[in-house]
Amino acid sequence: MSIAVRSFAKINIGLRIGPAREDGFHELRTIYQTVALSDVVRVEAGRGVGIEIYSKDPRVPCDESNTCFRMAERVLRAFKLRSKIRITIEKNLPVQGGLGGASSNAVATMLGMEKALKKELAPLDRLRLAAETGSDVPLFLIGGTVLGTGRGEQVYPIEDLPSFHCVIATPEIGVSTPAAFADWDRKIEAAKLTASDGSDKINEFSHSVFEWLGRRSFSLTGVPSKSWDRAEALLLDLVRTGIENDFESVVFPKHPAIREVKRALEKAGAKYASLAGSGSTVYGLFESKSIAAKAAKSLTENGVRAQATITLPRAEYWKAVLSR
Ligand code: C5P
Repeated sequence: MSIAVRSFAKINIGLRIGPAREDGFHELRTIYQTVALSDVVRVEAGRGVGIEIYSKDPRVPCDESNTCFRMAERVLRAFKLRSKIRITIEKNLPVQGGLGGASSNAVATMLGMEKALKKELAPLDRLRLAAETGSDVPLFLIGGTVLGTGRGEQVYPIEDLPSFHCVIATPEIGVSTPAAFADWDRKIEAAKLTASDGSDKINEFSHSVFEWLGRRSFSLTGVPSKSWDRAEALLLDLVRTGIENDFESVVFPKHPAIREVKRALEKAGAKYASLAGSGSTVYGLFESKSIAAKAAKSLTENGVRAQATITLPRAEYWKAVLSR
């Protein structure tokens, strides 16, 4: 029996990079938000042994470098099972675009294997296997609006944002995540030589998030105030608080064409636009579906791959993940 699992994308609303750690990773703070664009991952278990990956998309590796392969190995080991596992990836999301597609595929593989093998992992084992597979894998075990800390693998569900209209635009430019982190390190080193050390800025993230989500969410009596949660007000506040993705300061100078896409989204009416992860995807949040659709159309006409969609709150995320 083949189990089909929808594998959604994420964007980052703000991303602060801290200093490089002894293990080579960087401490970071971010808010992940799932969006309604997805791949489909099909999992079949059968007689024999071996993990096989199939995809019609030539950009998807079908060997052990695929996150789905690494996840499948881990899940079999956790179940102490030998089985043939066949994974078919229907790729719609950009490959290495900063939308977490490969990470999301890995979670889909885990969930699909549990169903195909009729076995369940304990929730904490799911989290452990996800964190071992990659820094932005665990967020897909929560979905909706998620706070990420540590190297991005420590995840906390936070109060879900309402669904925003959004445009996801991916210029055809490869951005290597490790290279973007290395560029960030060089930037921080240079700043140290001059004056301010940007590495302590990571702690300002909680201030920005408080400014954005916390300040108006509770009155002094501790009772949530009603008016704050309108999508429009949240969008305006998001712009006002200046929450940003630190990768922009190293990726944009290197690839000005990506900055141009962000500008094009803003010009087309995005209330807030930002790089997703280390790019090259840029997203824009919009007040209305029609303005978002127009923006996507205009970018597409100018040769940039762009799609209008919505952000996906947690309940809708889980309803859709296993709906296939
Ligand atoms: O965990 P993941 O496989 O996604 O990380 C890919 C690479 O990105 C790491 O090998 C590391 O070079 C870099 N990275 C980092 N700090 C993070 C996450 C990733 O330096 N928080």
